[in-house]
Parts: sequence; structure tokens; C-alpha cells
Amino acid sequence: MPAAPTKVIALDGPSGSGKSTVARAVARELGWRYVDTGATYRAATLAVLRAGTDLSDPEGIDAVVAGAAIEVSTDPAAAAVRLAGEDVSTVVRGPEVTAAVSAVSAVPSVRTRLVALQREFAGEAGAVLEGRDIGTAVFPEAPVKVFLDASADVRAARRAGDTDAGVEVSGSASSTVAAVAADLARRDRLDSSRATSPLQAAGDAVHLDSSTMDAQQVVDVVLDLARRAGLA
Ligand code: DC
Repeated sequence: MPAAPTKVIALDGPSGSGKSTVARAVARELGWRYVDTGATYRAATLAVLRAGTDLSDPEGIDAVVAGAAIEVSTDPAAAAVRLAGEDVSTVVRGPEVTAAVSAVSAVPSVRTRLVALQREFAGEAGAVLEGRDIGTAVFPEAPVKVFLDASADVRAARRAGDTDAGVEVSGSASSTVAAVAADLARRDRLDSSRATSPLQAAGDAVHLDSSTMDAQQVVDVVLDLARRAGLA
């Protein structure tokens, strides 16, 4: 009898592509876990900042991350991340962590540690993981891989309005959008050019552009792929 497919959906893509909304909705729909892998890199970065470690010292960074107790909630209705038991869900989204996360996530040994943790969080009963390297490095065996993208303008507008796919952005000052666009471009460049597991679509990923799709349309496509793969 052929082995049952790994119950994993890999959702990769850059910031503002709509991954989080879609990943949570798909996990809810399937009754599966949701794993925000970006949150693990953000919590690791917070630990490094709190330790006062130099961001150009990979060994120092790795030593801090090795000792950091990082935990993410896998409930798609209540996403949260904890560091040593403290709920740091809000602080990890702040500017200090956002500015430093690309440096910490570029350290290869940090990635090895966090990938192992992410696989543990996923468990075996079914999980939707969102990130940058799920289809290439975390779960290369995932039967459904989606690379979600959107135009740079749409992504910046979503992030500036703190919205995600499917939500109209209105009233955001254009200067805020411009600042967010510049920060996204910086992180995209760093995340795409790092040597280990750069932001990159897996060869067998389905590419979706959410610029003109609403969240539900993307969710429907992903659920359809899951059904075709025998996952749902
Ligand atoms: O998804 P996010 O914006 O919360 O991710 C924060 C950073 O973490 C992002 O700039 C790159 C890094 N990251 C990564 O390298 N690999 C992942 N699987 C997820 C995030």
C-alpha cells in the first residue's frame, strides 16, 4: 500500500502576500494546526536583542537562540508566540525586531534549530505552515506547496494598513505606505539573497498572485489543491 501523504500544506511567499490570513483560514477549515514560522524567527530575534548580542556575531546569536525557549500556539483562531513563557506576540511585530530579523534568520545554525522546532510544532495530524522556505527546506515532502505573491504596491499597502489579502486599504497616509514599501523591499532583498534557504519558490510549488484576488478566493484554490492531493 502506498504511504499516506504527509498532512502538510506549505505556504511560502514575501511579506504582505496574504499568507497569514490564508494559512489560518485553511487550517481552520481543515481542523489542522497552523504554524507561523516567521514568529519563531521573530521570537529568536527578540531573545538576541534582549541579550544585547552583536548582530554581526553568528556564534553569539546561535548561542542565544540555542538557549531560548520559543513556543508558538498552533491554534489558527488564537495565534500567539511565547519566549520563556512570556507572550511576546505584540513586541515581536515591533520595529526593533522587524529591523533585526533578517540578520538573525540568515544564520545557518539558527535555521537548523528553528526548522526542527517548526516540524515539531506541525506534529503529524495535519498542519498548514507559512513562511519563506517551507516547501524547500522545512517540508520538502509536502504534497501541497503554494507560493503566494502580490505586486510590491499591493503588499506595501496591505502592510501599511495592517491588513492582509482581501481587505481594502483606505486612509493610509502615502508617506506611511512609502516607508513600509522601502522596508519591505529591504527585507525582500535580504531574505532572497541569503545563502541558506533564501525566499524562493519550490520547483513544484503552485504560484498564485493575490494582487487581484480576495482572501476567500485564495483559500478556495488552496483547499481545492488539498482535495486533489487527497488531503481533505
Ligand atoms: O513572516 P514574517 O514577516 O513574520 O517573517 C519575519 C522574518 O523571518 C522574515 O523577514 C524572514 C524570516 N523568515 C524566514 O527566514 N524563514 C521563514 N520560514 C519565515 C520567516
